[in-house]
Amino acid sequence: MSFQIALNFEDGVTRFIQADGHETVADAAYRQGINIPLDCRDGACGTCKCKAEAGRYELGDNFIEDALSEEELAQGYVLTCQMRAESDCVLRIPASSQLCKTEQASFEAAISDVRQLSESTIALSIKGESLSSLAFLPGQYVNLKVPGSEQSRAYSFSSLAKDGEVSFLIRNVPGGLMSSFLTSLAKAGDSMSLAGPLGSFYLRPIQRPLLLLAGGTGLAPFTAMLEKIAEAGSEHPLHLIYGVTNDFDLVELDRLQALAARIPNFTYSACVANPASEYPHKGYVTQHIEPRHLNDGDVDVYLCGPPPMVEAVSQYIREQGITPANFYYEKFAAAA
Ligand SMILES: Cc1cc2nc3c(=O)[nH]c(=O)nc-3n(C[C@H](O)[C@H](O)[C@H](O)COP(=O)(O)OP(=O)(O)OC[C@H]3O[C@@H](n4cnc5c(N)ncnc54)[C@H](O)[C@@H]3O)c2cc1C
Ligand code: FES
Repeated sequence: MSFQIALNFEDGVTRFIQADGHETVADAAYRQGINIPLDCRDGACGTCKCKAEAGRYELGDNFIEDALSEEELAQGYVLTCQMRAESDCVLRIPASSQLCKTEQASFEAAISDVRQLSESTIALSIKGESLSSLAFLPGQYVNLKVPGSEQSRAYSFSSLAKDGEVSFLIRNVPGGLMSSFLTSLAKAGDSMSLAGPLGSFYLRPIQRPLLLLAGGTGLAPFTAMLEKIAEAGSEHPLHLIYGVTNDFDLVELDRLQALAARIPNFTYSACVANPASEYPHKGYVTQHIEPRHLNDGDVDVYLCGPPPMVEAVSQYIREQGITPANFYYEKFAAAA
C-alpha cells in the first residue's frame, strides 16, 4: 500500500512523495528525485533526522541512541533512513529544498470563476488538468503569477482541491497589481501560473481544542482547514473568530454556517471593527476571545490575517498570561 508523505523544507517549500510500507522514506524520496540529507543510512549518525508532524510510521530498533535519543523519539523525531510509513505523514526536513535537490512545483491552469463577493473581496477559482496532481496541506499557500507581468502574489487556498479546481479569497487592494487584474481584466478561461505549495501554516493533527482567529481574507486558510475537518471529523471543540474592518468585508458567512452544520463541534462568531457597523457583533477579534476559548492553555491557536492584526492578537494572548500548547500564525504581508 502506498502513502502520501508531505516533505516540508525549511525554506517553506513542500513536496509530496509516495512511499509504500516496505521502503524507507529516505529511499522513497530518493527514488522520486529528492535527496533528504543522509550519511550512514544505518541508524548510526542522525544526519537524516526529521520531525514527524503527522502520521503513523514504524522505525524498528536498528538505530542507536546517539542518532535518535529516547527524548527525541518521544517528541516525534524520526530517522528517515529507518522510517517506514503506515499512513499518510507530514515531515519537517531541517534543510532547504535546494539542498535536497528539489524546488517548488509549477502548474498552469485557467480561471474557472472570478467574482467580487463585495467591494473589498474577490473569490477566484482556477482549474486545470495539471492541478489534479497538485497536493497541499490545508492552510498552505501558492504564488500566483499576475498575468501580463513578471510578478507573483501569495494566496492561501480557501478550499480543498476538487476535480482539478482550487479557490482563493482575495482582498481587493485599491491600485494593487493582482487586485487590478482581477477586478478589471480577469475573465473565465484566462491562463494563470502558480508555484507551490508553500508554508508552515497548516492544520496539524487535532489533539486538543482549537481556537482559529481570522482577520479579513485571513479567513481563506481556515475554510480550507474546515473542509478537511468536515471530511475527517474532530472529537475536540473548534471555535473560529472572524474579524473584519467594515460590514462589506464580511463574506462567506453562509459557507461558515454550512461548515458548522457539517462539523458537530465547530462554532464561530464574526465581528466588525468599524463602530458605525450595523452588524450586531462589533469590535476586534480580541474582544471576542473568552477564557473558555483559551482553555487554560490546553488549546492550539491558529491565527491568520494582515500583519498588524496578527501582532495585536499575538500580544493580547501573551498578556492573558496563557501559553497555548501550540501557536501557529500566518501574516498576509504585502509583496516587497
Ligand atoms: C503567505 C501569504 C499568504 C497570503 N494569502 C492571501 C490570501 O489568501 N488572500 C489575500 O487577500 N491576500 C493574501 N496575501 C497577501 C497577497 O499576497 C497580496 O499582498 C495582496 O493580495 C495585495 O496584492 P496586489 O498585487 O493586489 O497589491 P500590490 O500591488 O502588492 O500592492 C499595492 C499597494 O498596496 C499595499 N498593500 C498590499 N496589501 C495590502 C494590504 N493587505 N493592506 C493595505 N495595503 C496593502 C502595498 O504595500 C502597495 O503599496 C498573502 C500574503 C502572504 C505573504
Ligand atoms: S543516515 Fe545516518 S542515521 Fe539515517
